[in-house]
Amino acid sequence: MKINFIDLQAQYQEYKSEIDKEVLEVFASAQFIGGEKLNSLEKNLAAYTGSKHAIGCSSGTDALLLALMALGVGAGDEVITTPFTFISTAEVIALLGAKSVFVDIDEDSYNIDPTKIESRITDKTKAIMPVSLYGQCANMEAINEIAARYELPVIEDACQSFGAIYRGKKSCNLSTIGCTSFFPSKPLGAYGDGGAIFTDDDELATKMRMLLNHGQNERYKHKYIGINGRLDAVQAAILDVKLRHFDKEVKLRDEIGSRYSDLLENVDVITPKIAEANTSVYAQYSVRVKDREAMIAKLAEQEIPTAVHYPVPLHLQEAFEHLGYREGDFPISELVSKQIMSLPMSAYLGEAEQDFIVRAIKG
Ligand SMILES: Cc1ncc(COP(=O)(O)O)c(C=O)c1O
Repeated sequence: MKINFIDLQAQYQEYKSEIDKEVLEVFASAQFIGGEKLNSLEKNLAAYTGSKHAIGCSSGTDALLLALMALGVGAGDEVITTPFTFISTAEVIALLGAKSVFVDIDEDSYNIDPTKIESRITDKTKAIMPVSLYGQCANMEAINEIAARYELPVIEDACQSFGAIYRGKKSCNLSTIGCTSFFPSKPLGAYGDGGAIFTDDDELATKMRMLLNHGQNERYKHKYIGINGRLDAVQAAILDVKLRHFDKEVKLRDEIGSRYSDLLENVDVITPKIAEANTSVYAQYSVRVKDREAMIAKLAEQEIPTAVHYPVPLHLQEAFEHLGYREGDFPISELVSKQIMSLPMSAYLGEAEQDFIVRAIKG
């Protein structure tokens, strides 16, 4: 049985006529940057999340970078975040000359442990940046409460959680700024790179719009040093089509994720724990296995693709050697990074395929 890790082909076939039509309209209009398609997407993203402002940008990484730039994070500043994430989260902090101050994760959600944040706040702390990993939001209420006491902004790295619900509210609309990614394999994926930034703050929104367009406030007048961080019209048009169908896909992902967990109930693997008032969009369906490498090899024998998100926590990455962390500093992140593995997941994963994967795991 041929199983895709993520089935982007099946998804394209499902929406082909709508996507082709929208893309051809962009070609015909020759409005490749900005314009009607981007405006429409931004309006629909804002409505979907309930945020006042949604701003399309070039990637999730740039969304995070722009958020930090808008908040004035720079040389010598500290940003509190998790070491158990994709590198972008801490990469953008370093790019601005600031320092990542890592805090270990909670063993159930794999997200930053709010009880360990406060002791790491110093007079250099400029922001707290939790990550909503694998599709489930971090404990934003607890994080926002600490941030409010210290008057710190909170940036949700929602690159894996667009569409997730946290205590009745949508991810991306839970803190000062929310940032997401539309990388093709994300739950809402473009056909190239893309991302978006969300905020209710008018001033931050205006500043981020300028920053992603070379800091321009009007053509060739530059108020800030910015970047080229725009989302192009082709991607916006594709995303706008997919957004129309997104709730249906989120529901399917939820059913498939829950079905995996039910089928794996009495098996010696740790399945995702979704907190009671949360939903997950299962950007990854990741399980913990004692002998991960053996399991990956066994599944590979049956041509079942898997992935590891992520094998090395950021504090042990060569690129962050200068931060001076060492093995043992964040034991939960280190343990999880040795055991975690992701199984095939998409809204198009059929029951027969899922049964085949589960049988291989049990075997
Ligand atoms: C947690 C997290 N942060 C940031 C990013 C960066 O997003 P992008 O690949 O769109 O730059 C990703 C995407 O892989 C991610 O998973």
